[in-house]
Amino acid sequence: MSQGYFVVGTDTGVGKTTVAVALINALCQRGLRVVGMKPVAAGGEMVNGVWRNEDVAALATASNTEADFRLVNPYAFALPIAPHIAAKQTGVVIDIPTIRSAYDVLSRTADVVVVESVGGFCVPLGRDIDTADLAVALGLPVMMVVGMRLGCLSHALLTAEAIERRGLVWAGWVANVLDPAMPALNENIAALQERLGAECLGIMPNIRPHSAHPECSWLVPDAFPQLVNK
Ligand SMILES: Nc1ncnc2c1ncn2[C@@H]1O[C@H](COP(=O)(O)OP(=O)(O)OP(=O)(O)O)[C@@H](O)[C@H]1O
Ligand SMILES: [Mg+2]
Repeated sequence: MSQGYFVVGTDTGVGKTTVAVALINALCQRGLRVVGMKPVAAGGEMVNGVWRNEDVAALATASNTEADFRLVNPYAFALPIAPHIAAKQTGVVIDIPTIRSAYDVLSRTADVVVVESVGGFCVPLGRDIDTADLAVALGLPVMMVVGMRLGCLSHALLTAEAIERRGLVWAGWVANVLDPAMPALNENIAALQERLGAECLGIMPNIRPHSAHPECSWLVPDAFPQLVNK
């Protein structure tokens, strides 16, 4: 049976794509058929009649399973602004059942679907819906990426509270080292390990220069049934 993960962040720009790509790499290395999905993407340009968005491209490059871009990225907007505003400006209504249907199709062609959310955890997608509703509709274990920077403790604890309040299942959380020179980095990670009721799936090191194939050995393999040696 196919498995999926829903990758959320404590904010925009905290490393959701970077961590999702690392997870996809790890799963591909185990010989699994893997596809990345970015249901809602804001910011991009039209190339040969197709919207090109950096996240969608990064996930597609890492994936080893061909998939129709309309399934991988059902909603694409040109402007890098809040999706519900971009949708309103372009007369689009983001429909969660449409995203769920696309996910279902992808899950039939891959062993694992890694879904990257948009922005932080409660980004509005429309008048009455947000990304938390999308997480609930997909019903996938949630992987929370914490961008390690000043302010991340409160962001991480608030996001975790919201994830749990929505009754979602944890895959766990990742400490993403955005700045290796962050003062008290280890103490901050320890503070989260003590307080979060979810498993730490690993500490993603800083990867400068940026790599399209980030190292994935930092992922705790025991946390992923697909990565455990049989
Ligand atoms: N571990 C890391 N080491 C070095 N750079 C990183 C790391 N993680 C993320 N970055 C850099 O930080 C920036 C934001 O990362 P990324 O695009 O993965 O975040 P995101 O949460 O997916 O952002 P968005 O909300 O736009 O989808 C990128 O320039 C990325 O290369
Ligand atoms: Mg991203």
